[in-house]
This record gives sequence, structure tokens and C-alpha cells, in this order.
Amino acid sequence: MNQPIKNIAVFTSGGDAPGMNAAVRAVVRTSIYYGKEIYGIYRGYEGMIDNDLVKLNARSVSNIIQRGGTILKSARSQEFRTAEGRRKAYENLQERKIDALVAVGGDGTFTGLHNFYKEYEMPVICIPGTIDNDLPGTDFTVGYDTATNTAVDAIDKIRDTALSHNRLFFIEVMGRDSGNIAINSGIAGGAVAIIIPEEETTIEQLIEKLDETARNNKKSSLVVVAEGGKSGNALEIAQQVQERYSYYETKVTILGHLQRGGAPTYFDRVLASKMGVAAVEGLLSDKTDMIVGIRNGQIVFNKFDDIMHRPPEIEAEALRIAKILAI
Ligand code: F6P
Repeated sequence: MNQPIKNIAVFTSGGDAPGMNAAVRAVVRTSIYYGKEIYGIYRGYEGMIDNDLVKLNARSVSNIIQRGGTILKSARSQEFRTAEGRRKAYENLQERKIDALVAVGGDGTFTGLHNFYKEYEMPVICIPGTIDNDLPGTDFTVGYDTATNTAVDAIDKIRDTALSHNRLFFIEVMGRDSGNIAINSGIAGGAVAIIIPEEETTIEQLIEKLDETARNNKKSSLVVVAEGGKSGNALEIAQQVQERYSYYETKVTILGHLQRGGAPTYFDRVLASKMGVAAVEGLLSDKTDMIVGIRNGQIVFNKFDDIMHRPPEIEAEALRIAKILAI
């Protein structure tokens, strides 16, 4: 049994995701509910190294459950990757008597905290917060539902104009290494093809598909491309297609960071709330070096070492469905 935890600190790190605020709120209020002191660290590991912390109370997190972004701000810290950076962070936490950490972020955040835990044995727990939904051990990450809905909303709007002009649109969504947003926004938006980093789609295969649907009387088409696609980004793919296939006039829309903003959906708010409560309750029942997840609607706790070496889970069944429906 570890020493009883008295002072917890929460931070958000890596790419911000809608619902991070709801997670912070849940961590803060659950900590207070259990009689603990709770601190917020600004700018993730950067703030930990710079001693940029503030004590929070239940009212500090009022009126944030519905807000996108993160009130604690976020960063991708290079310094925390070094032992020296982690040492500075530890000393700052020691000074404030912080004895447990809750991180909201993605795989880089988790790896940083895992290394920190191995060096300093401070109890730590992670909440998966990233729009990419690319973390093992959970069906959903906080922010993914909102970002995918944002992408679908944009795709629907592009469809209106694509149809009015008989055009082919390439719509680039986020996901450097992950096709999840592309797959599900592609299905929901009725894309003729979905190009993702996890699967090779050649330009020839794409043209064949476009040609087949044009012969089936399709007058306009939408192709959803994840930014990390193997054949290049949406602009590069569109250019290669246009050079070889002139049936459609071709346009490109890159959705970019607008997918990261906006009010979280009810799903992300509830997910973040459940995970935030679980993270604190987990810490208080001696769970450490763990990542909160949700599997079939149930909260689970995964040990970092048990899941982080696993390859990302790709939604093979969703891809199959998308192909059946794109005729
Ligand atoms: O990890 C989330 C994500 O939005 C990815 O989809 C995207 O590739 C990346 O972050 C962009 O990162 P940044 O905002 O640092 O450019």
C-alpha cells in the first residue's frame, strides 16, 4: 500500500481535444469529493517543468463542461523527453507536495508519464484525450466523437456544392497515423473512397473506383483522405488523379484544425466525465501507471506495459462496410 494521496495535480498534454475540459472538471470535482487538494498544471509537461501550477476548487471548473479546447492549455514538450526535464518537473511537484498526477492526452503523453513513474514512483494515471481515437485499450478517446461529427458536418456541406457542379472533391481530415476519423466520417458522409494511413490505396485503384461509379451514373463524388495517407496528402492525390482522369473537375478541401475545436458532443462530455471520476477513484484505490479506457460501455484500467506496445486497432469492419456501400 502506497502512502495515502493528499494532493493531486491534473494536466492536459499533446493535441487538444474537445472534452478535455469536461475531463479536467471531473478530475477536480472528484478529488474534492474525496477530500483531496487538487492543482491544475498549465501547458502540460512544459508547465510542470516551469512550475506553472494553480490550486483549483469546485468553482474553478464551473462553466467549462461545454467548452472546446482546454482551460489548462496544452503543449508537446521536448524537454520532458529528457531525464533532466523530468527531474525539474519532479522537484517542482515535490515543492508543492503533489503526490499523484492525472494526465489527459495521447500516446506521447502516456509515454512521458510512464517514464516519469518509473523514475520517481509517483502514482500516475492517464485519461485518453485525442481526436484520433488511436489508443489501444479503449473503444473511444475523448474528442473523437466531436471531431468526427465536425468532419461529417463539413462533408455534408461540401456535398451540396459538389452535387451542384458535378465535381469530385478530396476532403482531407486529421489523422497523421490513424484513419479512424476518415473511416467513420467517410461512411457517414457517403464517400466513394476512403484513404487511410493503415491501408495502401494506389492511384490506379482510386481511378478504377471513380470510373466504375461514373459508369453507374454518379455525377459527383467525395473522397475522404486521412492526412497521413500512403499515397500522399489530399492535394497530391487530387493532382495525380486529375492528370490521369478528367471526367470530373477536381477540388480539394483540407479541414485541418477546425476539427479540434468546438463544443464537445454529449458523448464526449459523458465519456470525459466517467473517465475523470474513474481516474481519481483509480488513484485512490492504488492504481498507478495505468490508462483509463472504455470497453463495451464499461470503464476499464489498462496497465501501460500491457497495452502500449500493441499496434493500433483499425476498424476493419467499418472499412468493409464503406466499400460495400460505395457503388
Ligand atoms: O493527435 C491529434 C492531431 O490532431 C492529429 O490528428 C494531427 O495529425 C496532429 O494532432 C496535428 O498536430 P499539431 O496541432 O501539433 O500540428
